[in-house]
Amino acid sequence: MKDFFWECKTKVRFGQGAVRDYLAQMVGEFALPGHNIMIGYGGGSVKRNGAYDDVVGVLESLGYSRDGNAADGNMIVEFPGIMSNPTLKRMREGADLASLMDVGLIIAIGGGSVMDCCKAIAVQAQYKGDAWEDFWMKGLPMTHDVIPCGVVVTMPATGSEVNGCAVLTNEDTKIKCDRDYPEMNPAFALMDPAYTLTMPVRQLKAGTFDILSHIMETYFSFPLEDNPADDVSEGLMRGLIRDFRAAVADPEDLQARSNIMWTASLAENRIIKTGKSKDFQAHNMEHQLSAYTNCNHGEGLAVLHPAYYRHIYKDGVYKFARFAERVWGINAADYANDYDLALAGIDALEDFIKEMGLPTTLRELGFGDEERELLPEIAESCFVSHGAFRVMTAEEILKIYEKCW
Ligand code: NZQ
Ligand code: ZN
Repeated sequence: MKDFFWECKTKVRFGQGAVRDYLAQMVGEFALPGHNIMIGYGGGSVKRNGAYDDVVGVLESLGYSRDGNAADGNMIVEFPGIMSNPTLKRMREGADLASLMDVGLIIAIGGGSVMDCCKAIAVQAQYKGDAWEDFWMKGLPMTHDVIPCGVVVTMPATGSEVNGCAVLTNEDTKIKCDRDYPEMNPAFALMDPAYTLTMPVRQLKAGTFDILSHIMETYFSFPLEDNPADDVSEGLMRGLIRDFRAAVADPEDLQARSNIMWTASLAENRIIKTGKSKDFQAHNMEHQLSAYTNCNHGEGLAVLHPAYYRHIYKDGVYKFARFAERVWGINAADYANDYDLALAGIDALEDFIKEMGLPTTLRELGFGDEERELLPEIAESCFVSHGAFRVMTAEEILKIYEKCW
């Protein structure tokens, strides 16, 4: 395996009542004394699933108030309206507010979009320069003090709660870009699976496929030889496929929801990335589809994966054959060679995507003639992964997009 650096500073408290039981302790540990607390959230789902009331209730019990006194550092500063696929503009608005209101802790309440936006706000609010240019575009070292940021997860998918990654969309340049800095890992993550029960089934499916994608994007990368990270990934994929089926069959199944929620974190706390080169080309291709059309992240990935894997499987055939056997339980003896076995594994993945009722074409994602004409430009704009089995060209990416039409 490759040499690696592993770190995950986030303190996790998982279980029903996690916010009510642990938020006060986390505020005591991480909030900068004498400063206000910002809560960031999206379009209002947090007010329907109880997360908002739980957070505000705890903060009020600690003496913070929505109409408190900013100068006394006892205010709850609200930052709602963080959209899915958060924009750079919204992040900058949040950073200006955090800076103006002297915020000393940011609490993100929501899914990946809210968490990412708040993590980025924490970086920009204290920074004299332009965080997008210096960190997202140039990847410079992050040496300034970042405002502590904690998260209350209401939707499992991205694993943003336990990593240093934040994905933003620059609407002017049409670039959607992720960056992962240890300094952006949340200080704490409170995870109550009961909050996820209000998720629409469509979002449940999209988010759970995103989790599977994160594991596959890591698994299908170098080294080819056996290694502990891939052994863990195989177990996570088998379990996630089981829990995905259970949650779709019965959306009220809290056990399945809990398993999915924690699998999202295990997939993205960097453990399964140890010693791996990491692919994430499907993510790069999806991010640009999203930058141009604002399509749903998990659904975009469901459309792209089978076509992408049929394009690259020969470059890492041993791993694709192993995936067929160990993840989908396909009998190798029934196939003449690893190439046929590998294709059977990709077919099984595609069948599963259909079984879960996820979209399988760009048209199902809402693309029309106008979007189709943009595909060459979108393909040209994609970041290219150098950890993948095959380093893609824009022409190859376009071919995959066309296959997904
Ligand atoms: O805005 P609200 O009203 O909160 O509704 C949200 C949103 O519409 C809703 N939702 C969340 N929890 C809910 C709920 N609705 C009902 N009940 C609940 N309990 O779900 C919708 C989608 O939320 P969003 O946060 O956008 O979804 P997701 O978690 O999939 O995040 C997607 C974003 O994360 C990025 C994606 O590119 C995209 O921008 N990613 C972040 C990563 C990371 N930080 O590590 C990695 C990923 O690969 C990904 O790129
Ligand atoms: Zn993802």
